[in-house]
Amino acid sequence: MDTLASYDELPYDSLPLPETQPDFLAAVATLHGFDAPDPTQARILELGCASGGNLIPLAWRWPGSECVGVELSRVQAEAGADFIRHLGLSNIRIVHGDLAALPADLGEFDYIIAHGVFSWVPPAIQRALLDVCRRHLASHGVAYVSFNVTAGWAPLLPLRTALLERTAVDLPAPARFAEARRVLAELEAEWTDPVLLKEIAYLKSAAPSYLFHEYLTEFNMPTRFADFAAQLDDHGLRYVGEVGPRHAVVELEDAWGLIPESMAGRWLDAEAALDEAHAIRFRRALIARADTPCARPPQAEALTRLTFHADLRSDDEIDLDTANEQAFINPAGCAFPVAQPAMKAAAMILSAAYPAALAYPELLASTKHALADYDAAGDVDEAVFRNALFQLVMAHGVMPSVDTMPYVTEPADRPGVHFLARLQATSPGWTVSGARHVALELDEPGRILLGLLDGSRTLDELAVILRNVLTDAGYERTLETVQAMTHRLVWLFARQGLLMEAPGSSAGLQ
Ligand SMILES: C[S@@+](CC[C@H](N)C(=O)[O-])C[C@H]1O[C@@H](n2cnc3c(N)ncnc32)[C@H](O)[C@@H]1O
Repeated sequence: MDTLASYDELPYDSLPLPETQPDFLAAVATLHGFDAPDPTQARILELGCASGGNLIPLAWRWPGSECVGVELSRVQAEAGADFIRHLGLSNIRIVHGDLAALPADLGEFDYIIAHGVFSWVPPAIQRALLDVCRRHLASHGVAYVSFNVTAGWAPLLPLRTALLERTAVDLPAPARFAEARRVLAELEAEWTDPVLLKEIAYLKSAAPSYLFHEYLTEFNMPTRFADFAAQLDDHGLRYVGEVGPRHAVVELEDAWGLIPESMAGRWLDAEAALDEAHAIRFRRALIARADTPCARPPQAEALTRLTFHADLRSDDEIDLDTANEQAFINPAGCAFPVAQPAMKAAAMILSAAYPAALAYPELLASTKHALADYDAAGDVDEAVFRNALFQLVMAHGVMPSVDTMPYVTEPADRPGVHFLARLQATSPGWTVSGARHVALELDEPGRILLGLLDGSRTLDELAVILRNVLTDAGYERTLETVQAMTHRLVWLFARQGLLMEAPGSSAGLQ
């Protein structure tokens, strides 16, 4: 096979995926007692990388890394290669080909990423994917492999079956997607199961490529966690831990006196039970070679060796006096309850510093200062603080990292954003990625403004140009309105770490 027609016809929305960032994977590995290589100098391989929307921003962020993407759909691979040429990046390439037939001389990689691939390919390619991990992982390298989980997927299978049966298999992907939308409306009227109705409601507004490639794809094979772990075993690999958000964490007590292997076995059993208890439908597994240190659950003590960043807000005034629970909300709208006053202060400190990350000792010291400034009663109990931070880290309210990169936080007189963001903004179908590898949802004025921010114009000059462009497109706005919009957007780009360093300063990307 030399291409995948369905992905050529309806390409996947290729987005930055925060949980695949090697600095985050390295941090999760540390929590599991495992030192992964320095991501800034790493060799990174992404399997099934689509057009590179995830891999390209990583190569841009770390010029010292070397990135290779592999993609079987010719259209997607070529779109990615074109984008890289325009960008002028020399530390990344996208290879058009089958992950099951990689050139043997590709070498070893410190990080291997396969998001949305394992459950969506035939069993022979699943085995090939794990083989690639075994053959190409460096000795302390880690792989990220996501997969659909039986516990949460079994209740959804009737929906996939109905969509497959009621749409014509020989239609081109876009036409079959249109049929599927019609079938969803039929099923909504026919069915009463709340789980299925909730999923139908979600699919009605989901991206076409998600609905098509998740529900109408030939292969979508959910796996039990225990079976996945056994397959890793068969391939000389082992499970390190989960890198998706967790609201329940398995903890084992050393006091059991078990040998490490038995402990690992109990831990894996508990992980499997968690899937059933929470009807988990998707997992993001961190994997290492079997000859790396023995598996164990994440350890809160290891937080002291990491850095942290968070983009949180609270709609209420922060109450540092009491342990009353307050909700901190991330840009995706997920709410994280925090009770401990020190953790509330820490969440505020991290959010003020975003997108920069603070090292643990710095975060702890700033938290103590903030509480002292506020005259909050009592000392910070470090063990309690660490455990509260651990819960937030596990739930992804606070993201752990090993990175301490500085960012430009204030727009210059003539603000400029880096070339990757400008190219993403001005290339149809591409998503702009924030410095922390998040997908930015920008409307048309936002994309136009981003494209203009090459550092040559003042805010007032930008507002005049933007107003003219909007007028030509049929949107009449007063200059004051456009000036306010320009100001707001430039500060949003600053918060997302997109600003270039102004001539003569020393922070920023490129
Ligand atoms: C569901 S998409 C996920 C894309 C991307 N990893 C993401 O998460 O945004 C699966 C991707 O794997 C690619 N793929 C499937 N089989 C492949 C194979 N044997 N070799 C290389 N790529 C493959 C598809 O073309 C598609 O781009």
